[in-house]
Amino acid sequence: MSNLDHLLCPIDQQPLTRSGRSLVCLNNHSFDIAKSGYVNLLPVQNKHSKDPGDSKAMVSARQDFLMSGLYDPILTGILESMPTVLKQRILFSMLDAGCGEGYYLNWLKRQSEHQIDAVGVDISKWAITAASKKSKQIDWVVGSNAHLPMPDGRFDCVMCAFGFPVVSEFHRVLSDDGWLLLVESGERHLIELRKVLYPEIRPYQSTFADGMGGFQLQFESSVEFSFTLKTQQSIANLLSMTPHIHKAPYEGREAVLALESIQLTGDVRLRWYRKQGKLEC
Ligand SMILES: C[S@@+](CC[C@H](N)C(=O)[O-])C[C@H]1O[C@@H](n2cnc3c(N)ncnc32)[C@H](O)[C@@H]1O
Repeated sequence: MSNLDHLLCPIDQQPLTRSGRSLVCLNNHSFDIAKSGYVNLLPVQNKHSKDPGDSKAMVSARQDFLMSGLYDPILTGILESMPTVLKQRILFSMLDAGCGEGYYLNWLKRQSEHQIDAVGVDISKWAITAASKKSKQIDWVVGSNAHLPMPDGRFDCVMCAFGFPVVSEFHRVLSDDGWLLLVESGERHLIELRKVLYPEIRPYQSTFADGMGGFQLQFESSVEFSFTLKTQQSIANLLSMTPHIHKAPYEGREAVLALESIQLTGDVRLRWYRKQGKLEC
């Protein structure tokens, strides 16, 4: 069972303790635990919109797409590339920052030979609601990567997959020699889709190409695979879970939604960083 331990009040950063169906801090700020077991630690002042993060429709589209198993090579790639020092531990703690509906974390927790003390955070209440219905063994928290409601040094590993990395917060919540995994699109990821969406393909630039203060890149690997989408619904689902749904021009999106099938390339970069020293400001 999830236990919602080691969480901090998002208002005054005091430790939260369980009191019945709530988490409460010393100053009596109280946060209800939902029926499905998650807790919402996103105070109104940290919300930049009424319904932040992925919408209900986006979460449902991603859930349908991921359930098809077409992105499973990414999961296998993560497990295979996991650093030996983590693999050697019987138990390690892991945060999935921007976990969506928890497909990756849930799979890793079930498939890994190790016990993972797993926590998933996402700013979207729709994503966390869906995640909490899938696994009761993981602590699910509505919260922001910008102000993680967790104490310093809490995790051995932080994973951020296709998400919104906030390096300073990842550095803070990692233990002294903790690991950060960034999962992001490689140069040829969904290139066939992008060619339909955009009149011109921009040159590839990886995130943190110039390095990242407080972390050292230890190794990186690529996961390359191909797959075919054979229905308009599956094409629409994939489009909804990519940033292109917001960034691409209207004409490009309409052209994609009119396709009846498409063969696609998956090209995903897995970058493993290790926390080192203090964060450079
Ligand atoms: C592209 S989705 C990736 C979800 C999941 N990691 C996956 O790969 O299936 C990005 C996720 O980041 C969440 N998100 C956006 N801003 C965030 C923030 N500041 N803190 C935490 N999560 C955030 C969104 O709600 C969404 O679920």
